[in-house]
Amino acid sequence: AKLLVLHGPNLNLLGTREPEVYGRTTLAQIDADLGERAQAAGHALESLQSNAEHVLVDRIQAARGDGTALILINPAAFTHTSVAIRDALAAVAIPFIEIHLSNPHTREDFRRHSYFSDLALGVVCGFGADSYRYALEAAIKRLAR
Ligand code: DQA
Repeated sequence: AKLLVLHGPNLNLLGTREPEVYGRTTLAQIDADLGERAQAAGHALESLQSNAEHVLVDRIQAARGDGTALILINPAAFTHTSVAIRDALAAVAIPFIEIHLSNPHTREDFRRHSYFSDLALGVVCGFGADSYRYALEAAIKRLAR
């Protein structure tokens, strides 16, 4: 099946961005690892990072017509602000898993609320770059049902 991985704002800086919070793995390393694992399981995986809300909304809308079976998304700061991305995911009705490197529940109060969690299949947070791996594993298992 076809899997789409979406990364929100500032995740292009992974590796150097607050490494004590987000680790030292780069986004390119995460995407390469996910791509290999998806391929080994017989799936196709495409990744997109954007700092722009509308780019993520447009990509989600396009996913309705391109055969995407499941979306893995780290909305980053948009987690806590974006009704537009939430609405796009609801509109296309493609199942998605919410991912965070950090555990937002242990951080500032404003990170405790997510516009996504109540619509998500599940949420993986707090395991650094491994959060993406665990989410992919859950996605692969679900696609095999
Ligand atoms: C994040 C957590 C968000 O609160 C933050 O704005 C991010 C990254 C994470 O992966 O831990 O940019 O989504």
